[in-house]
Amino acid sequence: MTAILTGHARLAGVIGWPVAHSRSPRLHGFWLERHGIDGVYMPLAVKPEDFAVAVRGLRAAGFRGANVTIPHKEAAFALCDTVEESAREAGAVNTLVFQDGGITGRNTDGAGFLANLGQHGIDPAAGPALLLGAGGAARAIAASLRGLGVAVTLTNRTRTRAEALAGILPGCRVVDWQARNAAIPDHALIVNTTSLGMGGHEPLEIDLSHAAPGAGVSDIVYVPLETPLIEAARACGLKTAPGLGMLLHQAVPGFAAWFGVTPTVDDALYDFIAADLRPKG
Ligand code: ATR
Repeated sequence: MTAILTGHARLAGVIGWPVAHSRSPRLHGFWLERHGIDGVYMPLAVKPEDFAVAVRGLRAAGFRGANVTIPHKEAAFALCDTVEESAREAGAVNTLVFQDGGITGRNTDGAGFLANLGQHGIDPAAGPALLLGAGGAARAIAASLRGLGVAVTLTNRTRTRAEALAGILPGCRVVDWQARNAAIPDHALIVNTTSLGMGGHEPLEIDLSHAAPGAGVSDIVYVPLETPLIEAARACGLKTAPGLGMLLHQAVPGFAAWFGVTPTVDDALYDFIAADLRPKG
């Protein structure tokens, strides 16, 4: 349904290159309609070389702010007048808020990750966490766990990247990628932050059969909605937090800042976004 806007409409969007794959317009559009808000959230395809001029232009044009996705998250960090602690820890910005004082950047990925665990009955602070991967998502998630005082073990195909991350975030240790299965029983939470298991990518080779009883398993991959990792965890009787919930929860603070209503993540929203992610036909 196309929104009829007034001249007072609140404007926001998601900046990416490419941006066509982003589910954020559908997600924010659902909330805008649910709350009857005079506002719009648009996909904004912006090339890397145009990022700074586009952000300043959006601000000049009266936008409230924007989400930032691949490949702009680090450029957004550099562009902001103020960055919140969450963005500093993650080294990246995914949410821009345009205020009188300028451009403020935050990173809501870690908070979205924790909220998703909570919604699935997983206590992030139950014990040490094992993170697979050492990219941008791993950094935001590791920082959120360290913020709760959780001991974090990093394992990554390229060990030096995990060591670099451990160097930035005190309280993280590194184990070899080849040793990941041996490390599983010592952890209360296992999180895949790599692209492994995503449709069209290589599978994630992991053996959960020796996981501690009651351990939680989470995946940032949400295509497919139920990744082989999540299916394997269920089969082992472990608690699971599939990836789509993190996407939904990370969107909440931005929507609240731009549109003035704190939205909820519920089954209706999940079904609306999931319907768009299931194979067609
Ligand atoms: P993001 O910043 O979005 O997290 P990224 O920096 O590309 O994305 O990180 C992707 C993660 O998936 C990395 O941890 C990467 O491992 P490397 O650091 O060794 O590249 C991991 N990854 C991707 N393909 C992989 C594969 N075939 N096997 C193991 N890990 C893989």
